[in-house]
Amino acid sequence: MEKERERERKEEFDASEIEYVSYGGEHHLPLIMNLVDQELSEPYSIFTYRYFVYLWPQLSFLAFHKGKCVGTVVCKMGDHRNSTFRGYIAMLVVIKPYRGRGIATELVTRSIQVMMESGCEEVTLEAEVTNKGALALYGRLGFIRAKRLFRYYLNGVDAFRLKLLFPQPELHPFLPMMADRDATQMHDDHSPTSEEFSELHRNL
Ligand SMILES: CC(C)(COP(=O)(O)OP(=O)(O)OC[C@H]1O[C@@H](n2cnc3c(N)ncnc32)[C@H](O)[C@@H]1OP(=O)(O)O)[C@@H](O)C(=O)NCCC(=O)NCCS
Repeated sequence: MEKERERERKEEFDASEIEYVSYGGEHHLPLIMNLVDQELSEPYSIFTYRYFVYLWPQLSFLAFHKGKCVGTVVCKMGDHRNSTFRGYIAMLVVIKPYRGRGIATELVTRSIQVMMESGCEEVTLEAEVTNKGALALYGRLGFIRAKRLFRYYLNGVDAFRLKLLFPQPELHPFLPMMADRDATQMHDDHSPTSEEFSELHRNL
């Protein structure tokens, strides 16, 4: 009981004290596994964790406060059905005392930025339909609910497949017409660069 209360207790901290690092090797693996095992309903084997972090170390991030790991995001990217190059967010966790302070948003935004820079056209993930926090977080970042997956999880709960499409200026149907417009208008209308994208989400 006392331990449980300790796990719930809000931690006082300044956002600037949180350090974000990308996956740095085997010493980070137990930290990620510990957080995900504690907080996500789906059980994952060590092979699943290794699959993600060995192949896409640049897409996984950890958040530390005074040396303690308080949050993590684990992702991958690749060709989807030979047509779309897309990113996928597999796991996202922030421990309870540190929630509600933007740590998950920062972790996800960092992964998404690397995906964009690597040429991904979109990013997807699944979330339990009952997970209000995650649905609100991803909704704020612009994700839409693309599909409902019946009894997707081992616990029998349905999932929403969430999707965020990245801006693709070369596919914009109005671009040829915009070539005639003056430079000021072009500046107002242009699709966000990856820096602007992360800035945008930093300011949400
Ligand atoms: C979901 C989770 C990662 C959010 O972490 P967090 O660091 O608290 O998230 P943020 O502070 O970045 O939240 C950003 C926004 O998301 C929304 N949000 C996050 N948690 C919420 C909650 N419990 N209820 C309602 N909205 C929530 C809010 O809009 C919030 O913005 P605001 O604080 O300005 O209102 C965290 O609650 C968690 O680890 N949960 C357990 C594991 C999990 O469900 N992972 C997601 C699997 S898909």
